Amino acid sequence: MSSDGTPALATALQGIRGAVRQDVALAPFTHLRIGGNADWFVEPYAEEDAARVVAICHELGAPIHILGGGSNLVVADSGVRGVVLYLGNLNRIVRDGSRVTAGAGCTLPSLLRTTKDAGLAGLERLTGIPAQVGGAVAMNAGTRDGETFDQLVSLTVVERDGTIAVRGPDAFSPSYRNGGLGGAIVLQAAFELENDSPQAIFDRFSASLKARNATQPVTQRSVGCVFQNPAGDAAGRLIEASDGKSMARGAVTVSDLHANYFLNNGGGSAADFMALVADVRSRVRDRHGVELELEVQLWGF
Ligand code: FAD
Ligand code: EPU
Repeated sequence: MSSDGTPALATALQGIRGAVRQDVALAPFTHLRIGGNADWFVEPYAEEDAARVVAICHELGAPIHILGGGSNLVVADSGVRGVVLYLGNLNRIVRDGSRVTAGAGCTLPSLLRTTKDAGLAGLERLTGIPAQVGGAVAMNAGTRDGETFDQLVSLTVVERDGTIAVRGPDAFSPSYRNGGLGGAIVLQAAFELENDSPQAIFDRFSASLKARNATQPVTQRSVGCVFQNPAGDAAGRLIEASDGKSMARGAVTVSDLHANYFLNNGGGSAADFMALVADVRSRVRDRHGVELELEVQLWGF
């Protein structure tokens, strides 16, 4: 059993409505399938319980990590201490005219399907991003066609002390691949969309998916792009131009198809992944004088 089985935390979490488990493997919850265990893994059934978990961690000084779709995460081989809060049960979608409100745990693909069927356009700009709504907002996930904050009109969040608040997007400072939430935890996000025919939305979605499938290794285990694009350039281009496509550490390799994707070909570790990050960074620095910044989020390092 892991170390953070403090009696106070165990007692406090007993009152939470939802699944509360100890010593849970995180790798299956990540796209990369890498990483150790969480001391505590909590899946609340309702927003109030999610907020209560946040308040408990605040009161007891226990570390807390919020898990979305796990598509932009590398978890250390030794796992993470404290509580991992998984909001997958908060996945309701509610429509009010052209405004759609989705729970943090709703997946982006299912939200896109629902809005497309309803003839509501805009979110197809996020086609192919395997996020949950909360993770998409936290990262301000996007493509060349647009970002999550473009259509965002309101967020229901939990502050780190456990208080629930509704805020407009102006309360945050989103930028490229960063929602600028200042520690707030997303419970719901409301998007204002435009009316269009489901067929027209589907056509844009299909074209986008086709382009992505041709240029990115979408069926393999990855975190998407490992590094942010530096201003005016592309990390993938820089890595390929540094002969990075043949680089590997253990079972983690740079993708042949897109050099800013690192693949876990089975049995890879977080140590392998981080060693490859260091190798590629140093290669690009030596050849091009550019310091690549991580897009991927690291837990437990
Ligand atoms: P996670 O990976 O679970 O978490 C990411 C971060 O968000 C963590 O810091 C986590 O604590 C935080 N977080 C999660 N939920 C919440 C919440 N409710 N409240 C507050 N913080 C939260 N990204 C792009 O931007 N564009 C792309 O085109 C793209 N393509 C990808 C393709 C593939 C095949 C893969 C594997 C990844 C891709 N990504 C892309 C990366 C990834 O999908 C995005 O970063 C996404 O926003 C992560 O969302 P998630 O729900 O999986 O979050
Ligand atoms: N390129 C190479 N070699 C490679 C990969 C790319 O030379 O191995 C070149 C391409 O030929 C092109 C340029 O680099 O000239 C840009 O490549 P691409 O069009 O594939 O887009 P990208 O900038 O690498 C960005 C996002 C992706 C997003 C796509 C499509 C970042 C870091 N990446 O990729 O987002 O899906 O645009 O909109 O911003 C992610 O963030 O995880 C992600 C996958």
